[in-house]
Amino acid sequence: IREDPSAVGEYAADYIVKRINSHFQKTDRPFVLGLPTGSSPLKTYENLIKAYERGLVSFKNVITFNMDEYVGIPKSHPESYHSFMWKHFFSHIDIDPNNVHILDGESKNLLEECDRYEESIRSCGGVDLFVSGIGSDGHIAFNEPGSSLSSRTRIKTLAYDTILANSRFFDNDIEKVPRMALTVGVATVMDAREVMVLITGHSKALALAKCIEEGMNHMNTVSCIQNHRNALIVSDEDATLEL
Ligand code: GLP
Repeated sequence: IREDPSAVGEYAADYIVKRINSHFQKTDRPFVLGLPTGSSPLKTYENLIKAYERGLVSFKNVITFNMDEYVGIPKSHPESYHSFMWKHFFSHIDIDPNNVHILDGESKNLLEECDRYEESIRSCGGVDLFVSGIGSDGHIAFNEPGSSLSSRTRIKTLAYDTILANSRFFDNDIEKVPRMALTVGVATVMDAREVMVLITGHSKALALAKCIEEGMNHMNTVSCIQNHRNALIVSDEDATLEL
């Protein structure tokens, strides 16, 4: 638990830098990093960029897989997760663009795209560290309430609460928010060797309490991390209000 979102971002970035650097002390195999979008990871990205600029970390041998992407808006749309990731992170670091993986919500065959994504993760040897945010209904990636805890990458219809929450990025007009998304499954996240979940703000307080203090539940998909052998929640004070 850290004081505020800035301190959460500093802690999380420092943690990721340490993980990447200690990985390369042991092996030349690329480090595979799962990444989220949303406001929760913004401070983490800022601090990772600073660490890169100070020469504390390199992303040359890092492979990334993003959690999700909207269906129904082009990659060039300012609110697509492709745009988000390049704007807030990838354009500022030394990552090889060929090592960046983001689901293609414009694919002609979305089912194949999801299978291909799972296969790419497998062929890279699995994810070393999956970083995630959560929705206020406790969703991880776009695994909305009711998602199977053994789900893999697939198409999901967004819950009304998510559409409402994300309308702030679409001129507060829910009609403009995509209705569907491609998302890694709960089991895809759980397969990672380590999971780090960033939870900030009072709007996430109930979801955090349910995640930690109630049983594992498909109506609050982040609760799956109770069953992960190496999971870490980094939260701010506001998010702990219901604990
Ligand atoms: C979207 C994303 C999630 C993210 C959530 C929270 O629903 N698909 O991966 O965790 O937003 O966003 P924020 O961090 O802006 O609250």
